[in-house]
Amino acid sequence: MAVILGIESSCDETSASICIDGEIKSNIIASQAIHAKYGGVVPELASRVHQQNIIPTVDQAIQLAKIHKNDVDAVAFTRGPGLLGALLVGTSFAKSFALARQIPLIEVNHMQAHILAHFIDNPKPEFPFLCLTVSGGHTQIVLVKDFFEMELLGQTLDDAAGEAFDKTAKILKLPYPGGPLIDKYAQQGNATAFKLPEPQIPGLDFSFSGLKTAILYMVQAEERKDPSFLDKRIADVCASVQERIVTILLNKLNKAVQQTGVKQVAIAGGVSANSGLRQQLTEMGARYGWQVFIPKFEYCTDNAAMIAIAGYQKYLRQEFVGQDIAPLARMHF
Ligand code: KG4
Ligand code: ZN
Repeated sequence: MAVILGIESSCDETSASICIDGEIKSNIIASQAIHAKYGGVVPELASRVHQQNIIPTVDQAIQLAKIHKNDVDAVAFTRGPGLLGALLVGTSFAKSFALARQIPLIEVNHMQAHILAHFIDNPKPEFPFLCLTVSGGHTQIVLVKDFFEMELLGQTLDDAAGEAFDKTAKILKLPYPGGPLIDKYAQQGNATAFKLPEPQIPGLDFSFSGLKTAILYMVQAEERKDPSFLDKRIADVCASVQERIVTILLNKLNKAVQQTGVKQVAIAGGVSANSGLRQQLTEMGARYGWQVFIPKFEYCTDNAAMIAIAGYQKYLRQEFVGQDIAPLARMHF
């Protein structure tokens, strides 16, 4: 039997999970509400709250899984990418937990873990598959050849898709994080109400900064005509913005399918919780004969279950690291 403790602390979620023989038994997530009033994640505050939350979060994960601390066979932790101070908390905790019990330590790449979240539940994709990984910090199209053999086919040249949602929300005077709120308003709005540009970027890369500027100018122009524009039309604006972001993402994903011939298609990362993206990908899959994989909501945004499941696969391969390991703010596959 293999009992893996997974730890995630790369941004503003402190999370711990227990995975036993490849099955997730607990996934505790402590979110940090403190950042909302600053309109974004404040790195220094994130580190401090991680420090407060890490021990109770791990305790809860262990209790919920009905095991004892000493039953843990290995500790997997997010080494990067992420906020360095935030990563340090999870990394230091994982190292001391492993050292105290003389058990192996496993480093996990956060972006790989988002993709490997597809191996938590059934049906699981088979290799190779394509994954559109869309979060607050990244937008990537990845060809997943094996658990830890991934090829980056395209990525954003500027803002990430989650950033496009969050920065638009700021323009619309909505609180942080704006993605889930735009999603909520969009469900009551008309997606064709406002015309927004689709950036012309070659290949499989993305760009979202022009879209953000177009939205800003559009809102400013409308507010000059009617100062209560946002109050009246927030749902239509959100629906139009979401429609544009989703079509940008899915048009590139479609291009990736055509280029690679791979018809197993997955989404991952925080933005994969978006209802418009989920619905339109499902429709595209039916139209083009793709097999589509969409994670459960709790495995879309940052969580330690994905770290534990990735850790389990490394445990099977005996891929361990030493106590001299340090976190990395930037980390490639
Ligand atoms: O993966 P994640 O939890 O953290 C990072 O690693 O960045 O992603 C967070 C991002 C935020 O930008 C948030 O606004 C976005 O995911 N997000 C959404 C939704 N839920 C979360 N964006 C659009 N619609 C949603 N329902
Ligand atoms: Zn993430």
